[in-house]
Amino acid sequence: MSADLFDFMEPQAHCESMGRDAFVLRRFALPFEQDIWGELQQVVWLSPLRHMTTPGGFRMSVAMTNTGRLGWISDKTGYRYDEIDPLSGRPWPTMPSAFKSLAKSAASHVGFEGFEPDACLINHYEAGARLSLHQDKDERDYAQPIVSVSLGLPATFLFGGLARTDKTLRTVLQHGDVVVWGGVSRLNYHGILPLKPGRHPLTGECRINLTFRHAGS
Ligand code: SIN
Ligand code: FE2
Repeated sequence: MSADLFDFMEPQAHCESMGRDAFVLRRFALPFEQDIWGELQQVVWLSPLRHMTTPGGFRMSVAMTNTGRLGWISDKTGYRYDEIDPLSGRPWPTMPSAFKSLAKSAASHVGFEGFEPDACLINHYEAGARLSLHQDKDERDYAQPIVSVSLGLPATFLFGGLARTDKTLRTVLQHGDVVVWGGVSRLNYHGILPLKPGRHPLTGECRINLTFRHAGS
């Protein structure tokens, strides 16, 4: 192969396996960083981050909002997807094309072709915020994968099995890392340990996570 052909090749993001049908694409989101950050400001201006309440009446430590046709919400009546942001009373902001292409490209990179995200949950973690072990199971079906993009401060991600008590793998997710899981791992338990304080040049004193899913029919 001639040298000029190499010049056109993209450096491959380093891909790690977390078991069957589950992958961490290290730094995969870095080339999208500026576009994603700019679009994110528009989204949170239209549908601000807020601390939702769990069905049990607790305030979640992670602040959340959504972009896409459907948004995930939690309140005293339960968890669900809705087309309307209960805070603004309007539809959630349209999913920016930069968000969609990042998610689709990460999914196809590990063999999930044809991913069509219609929901992107935006999680905002400050020091101490955490997400306890849970399954993503509020979607209409589980045929499509989950694509999860980490920005800003590092966080420890736990990835278990189909039972809450299964052994969990743990890995530190850094700025730009993308986790993709689907197929036999689609309903695996996962969570985030309490965020350690720090400062990141792009996000400041927080971590942002974008979780893409196909939630509707
Ligand atoms: C989630 O499970 O919804 C988010 C995971 C993360 O913040 O990395
Ligand atoms: Fe989740």
